[in-house]
Amino acid sequence: MTNSVESFYTLHSRHCSLVIDCRGNAPAILYWGSRLSEATSPDMLSLLATRQELQACQAQEALIALSPEAAAGFMGSPGVQMHRSGRQWAIYAKTKSVNLVDNQLTIISQCHGAEIQLTHCLALHESTDVLTATTEITNNGSSALWLDRCDAPCIPVPMHYNKIQGFTGRWANEFQPVSIDRFPGAYVRENRSGRTSHDSFPGIVVHTEDTNESSGSAYGLHLGWSGNHQLRIEEQHTGQAYAQLGELFFPGEMSLEPGEKYCSPTLYGTSTDHGFSAISESFHGYVRASLTDKRVRNKVRPVHFNTWEAVYFDLSYDRLCELADVAAEVGAERFVLDDGWFKNRKSDKAGLGDWFVDNSVFVDGLGPLIDHVKAKNMEFGLWVEPEMVNPDSDLYRAHPDWVLNADPAPLILSRNQLVLDLTRTEVQTYLFERLDTLLTEYSINYLKWDMNRAVYQPNNQSGRAVGHHQTNALYTLLARLRTAHPTVEIESCSSGGGRADFGILAFTDRIWTSDSNDALDRLAIQKGFSLFFPPEIMGAHVGPAICHATGRVLNMDMRVGVAMFGHMGIEANLLDINDEQKQTLKAGLALHKQHRKLLHGGRSVRLNTPHGQSGFGVIATDGGEAIFSYAQLDTLSHSVGARLRFSGLDEDSRYEVKIIWPLKPTSYSTSILEVIDESVISGDGLINVGIQLPIMLPASVLIFHLSRVIES
Ligand code: GLA
Repeated sequence: MTNSVESFYTLHSRHCSLVIDCRGNAPAILYWGSRLSEATSPDMLSLLATRQELQACQAQEALIALSPEAAAGFMGSPGVQMHRSGRQWAIYAKTKSVNLVDNQLTIISQCHGAEIQLTHCLALHESTDVLTATTEITNNGSSALWLDRCDAPCIPVPMHYNKIQGFTGRWANEFQPVSIDRFPGAYVRENRSGRTSHDSFPGIVVHTEDTNESSGSAYGLHLGWSGNHQLRIEEQHTGQAYAQLGELFFPGEMSLEPGEKYCSPTLYGTSTDHGFSAISESFHGYVRASLTDKRVRNKVRPVHFNTWEAVYFDLSYDRLCELADVAAEVGAERFVLDDGWFKNRKSDKAGLGDWFVDNSVFVDGLGPLIDHVKAKNMEFGLWVEPEMVNPDSDLYRAHPDWVLNADPAPLILSRNQLVLDLTRTEVQTYLFERLDTLLTEYSINYLKWDMNRAVYQPNNQSGRAVGHHQTNALYTLLARLRTAHPTVEIESCSSGGGRADFGILAFTDRIWTSDSNDALDRLAIQKGFSLFFPPEIMGAHVGPAICHATGRVLNMDMRVGVAMFGHMGIEANLLDINDEQKQTLKAGLALHKQHRKLLHGGRSVRLNTPHGQSGFGVIATDGGEAIFSYAQLDTLSHSVGARLRFSGLDEDSRYEVKIIWPLKPTSYSTSILEVIDESVISGDGLINVGIQLPIMLPASVLIFHLSRVIES
């Protein structure tokens, strides 16, 4: 630890190093990448980075500092944008002190002109190599400071990382990667939806031309924030590029009184030379080590039965009990009562806000249903959507002034609902009291916390945008409930996939990945999602044969085979399915449970597969066992499938190979399916030669189990 400022600071983790250059007025990343050898010094890196004076430019090229400064001649997007009534906007901060404790650097800089202090915190997580980074600004002046931007520390992008993979999507089709070439100018994604959003996930990968799932260099970056954000990758005329991720404020939204601080959301980053699989491996490891709460850390993730696509709003006590019986029979371990259980809620047109049990359906409250569920050895979960209110509700009739707005524009309804202003004390008090009472009165193990619309109109009653404070108020409410109910687990659901980020993971335990239970679409959605999030928090349900989101018909083998790789559940009317389907489902859930420890604790591996095919796996941390999935989505252009090349196995070991799903794989004539089962093949053969796939129908899946053979 030191308080005087040295020229360089180096952090190391298992496979990565980060070097911060403090020689200039503002600190900057000199290097972030694979772990440097002992032979490499920061001075050498600095020497290697020597750049000539640019022609027709300022003599001293401006640094891509942690918070790049316009006053220092930086022509890109300044990392902190502020002013005091139009003045004191040009920041030129000088580094004052640097502390290095437990692999975390805290760098304090001050700008006397703007009267601010900047505190940059950067840490490298030893075992997972994840970089965490924040920027904090303190108002040291005596007047209010208007803050337009305060991004997390800026990351210089290596010159040869010339590809950008961002994410787009929509409801029921989230986490869709879009790859483009880096270009001169800025790639910018902005989100103003007041949640993480379906269409602009705050994550991005920058990589080289030839990076793929298993090899090549890349940075994976993610902003852990559940509100508005902006991501920017900008290539400057100098050829240099940088990544800047931060919160997005509406005009006038953020101001700091003298002495007040604002801290950016945390930027999470991974750097790899081993392809996208290594990005997911690092992020998954970090979530497990640092974000997963103790209430679920050592707990098996119970298989869900969720009532939504089984009955929608058509709830009856008897029907729910019948569903609970069949759910338990096929293997569900948690019964989640979805929307429709509370007062005035017969459809999505009314009732939100009235968090009292609907006694017309549950004559004696929820107690008898919960008792019935628990008698079947299942946990009980309940759906809530606390941030919302229907105009047709007792709550809104009593408190029409509790909603966010954009006066004088008319209130915008979305799914017939409005958004409560959580920054109001009385709203917080009401919601806490209602949820706390429900959790105290009933034996509820789990809340599915929904948020089914964007915040189009983010103003409070005084006309000021509250996006930032609304998100923090949500975090506060969740934190209060979790403190009051330390064993209750919470799922983050926002129409599926709309609030998925590392910020919400500090307060929730599972994410409902998407409202689409279409197994084919799910393969792509889950692939995007799993770049950042580990399988045990990825809600994945076996839906109905005719998928409600797409109308596509998929067989039970396929639906089970895809849901198996997440936190598995069922979301279909089990009173409707025939015995054969029920037995297949039962076997699938049993298989999931048999391998759940591996599926939820292993190392995820992404395979390179051609378009229309999908392949991935999970390998035990000791490498002794693995499960791989291969799915054929479309009709192939060749008569027979290609080779499936595995990845991540130990090349020198031998593995016994079994096909564990479907239970009865069928093929047109003798194929690998008949000959491979229980054979022993080397890791080398599986990785470098690959298994010849059989002729498969479109929309079918094969799951392989590999176990290392101990040579005697
Ligand atoms: C959202 C959720 C669904 C379900 C409905 C209930 O769409 O994503 O899973 O809970 O709300 O209204």
